Amino acid sequence: MSVIEKTRVEFEPVKPEVGSIVRAERAALFDPEVVRQCREMLNDRVVLVFPKVNFTDAEQLAFTDLLGGRLNLTSDATTDKQEDVYQVTLDKKINRAPEYVLGTFFWHMDGLPVETAPPAATLLSARKLAPKGGQTEFSNTLAAYEHLPEAEKAALDDLRVVHTVAASLRPIADLIPEADKGKLQIGVPKEHPLVRTRKDGRKSLVIGSTADTVVGMEVAHGRALLARLVEWAGQPAFTYRHEWQDGDFVIWDNRTAMHRVIPYDSDCGRMMHRTSIAAED
Ligand code: OGA
Ligand code: MN
Repeated sequence: MSVIEKTRVEFEPVKPEVGSIVRAERAALFDPEVVRQCREMLNDRVVLVFPKVNFTDAEQLAFTDLLGGRLNLTSDATTDKQEDVYQVTLDKKINRAPEYVLGTFFWHMDGLPVETAPPAATLLSARKLAPKGGQTEFSNTLAAYEHLPEAEKAALDDLRVVHTVAASLRPIADLIPEADKGKLQIGVPKEHPLVRTRKDGRKSLVIGSTADTVVGMEVAHGRALLARLVEWAGQPAFTYRHEWQDGDFVIWDNRTAMHRVIPYDSDCGRMMHRTSIAAED
């Protein structure tokens, strides 16, 4: 008689509109069936939290590869290391243009100014925590879109938005030393639809700090609209704040979630290891 072991993984919702905690044996996370269930859950919950799994880089890369196509979103501006694991830190000994990482203090989606379609997911491991601040917040932009009044949805549906690194650095532009300015001119502007329609028909907002202008709209009007949408999506009902513990691993759907980090001290040594999944459509 053969014994068929049932794959054991449990998902526990964090808030009604966003986030699930994944409870599974560490080894089970490399089971393709468990990864499939994670991908399915990610579609709906947008953020998955794996408490204290303490992945090594090799394990994080293995999990990344099981989840989708690995994407190198390393920033030349900040590091010589062209490895697929990007070290997210403000430590000047490791990051030679920390202003780029200061940009993570503001709501954004990863890779929009450099990729032609939004990267599918981001995966982040906590390596060294900040004693104060450093929580990461996530906003479900599927829920944010779905709760907009119908008339507003219709007015947004066909708009397109230009995304640039310069826009994402605008709040801190006056802090960037002249010498770093050239380095931070990354990518060429990329246009993305403001409202993304998924294969299952669900729509989400593609917004955040990289959004510079709305195509065909006066610049100030477009920026005001983009700012209002970010405020709307940042409401507590659509957001989850993750209080990191050592070794936590969090993944999010980068097409349907904005994220930002609560400011932390530049010298506190906070270190996160990031991997990315490429666009799928
Ligand atoms: C990033 C990012 C958030 C964090 O690396 O893209 O947004 O909590 N990081 O460090
Ligand atoms: Mn980011």
